[in-house]
Amino acid sequence: MYRNFPSPQQEAQILCAIRRAGEIMTSALEVQDAVSAKPGTRNYVTAYDVKVQKYLFSTLAEIAPEAAFLGEEEDVHVLPEDKPCFVIDPIDGTLNFIRDLHCSCVSVGIVWGGKAVWGAVYNPYTKELFRARKGGGAYLNDQPIHVSELSLEDALLSVGSSPYIRETNWEKTFAIASSLFLRCSDFRRSGSAAYDLCTLACGRTDLFFELILGPWDYCAGAIIIEEAGGSIHQLDGAPLRYDTGCPVFASNAASHDAALRLLQEKL
Ligand code: IPD
Ligand code: CA
Repeated sequence: MYRNFPSPQQEAQILCAIRRAGEIMTSALEVQDAVSAKPGTRNYVTAYDVKVQKYLFSTLAEIAPEAAFLGEEEDVHVLPEDKPCFVIDPIDGTLNFIRDLHCSCVSVGIVWGGKAVWGAVYNPYTKELFRARKGGGAYLNDQPIHVSELSLEDALLSVGSSPYIRETNWEKTFAIASSLFLRCSDFRRSGSAAYDLCTLACGRTDLFFELILGPWDYCAGAIIIEEAGGSIHQLDGAPLRYDTGCPVFASNAASHDAALRLLQEKL
């Protein structure tokens, strides 16, 4: 029943809603006055994260009443097993959004049968819309994209700092980052994991890791990377989970084995 979900017509409507969600972000006013704290270290949410999520939940429910929802800004996160589920980060890169850094995305994935089967990530500042469907390739604004062919020595690494639980993760994060940095071209820290995964998918970067992320951070990016010819899994090689968060390692094919070997020495 769900094999062709979303249908081409639903997909066009979903992408339209994601672009509209991006407009809510870029037209936001007085963001600094709309910030509140969430559990964790310097973890923030704004009224706009909540507004974008509400907009997506209600609009996507009209487009696809057969699907369930899991969104970052809900109190309880449950992934149903008997139907496709939208996994949504209304604003990935919330601190960038608060600080007006223009590097935040709307991320909408679909999980079905325990795997990401569809995803779209929209950066409304650059108007880049990344999308992929299982078996259908990956695209940036309708142009096919592919991961790079650079090996570790020339690879550009994106590092995620697990900022909200930094106390238990910082030593390992910096140990892995140092080890890879000494062998690769350089490293970057964008502040949006969803965008990091998409820059890897289109060959602008080549490696990514973060010791813990939520499923909403990587769901859409994961299918985009896979369809662009890259790999994404946990740091120990296990498949990603979508019912809860997990560590994430992503790479192109050319640097995968050498980078993973170095990374695993530091686990
Ligand atoms: C965060 C960003 C950040 C990553 C954090 C995520 P949020 O998402 O993706 O790059 O380091 O681990 O939680 O909180 O801005 O939606
Ligand atoms: Ca978020």
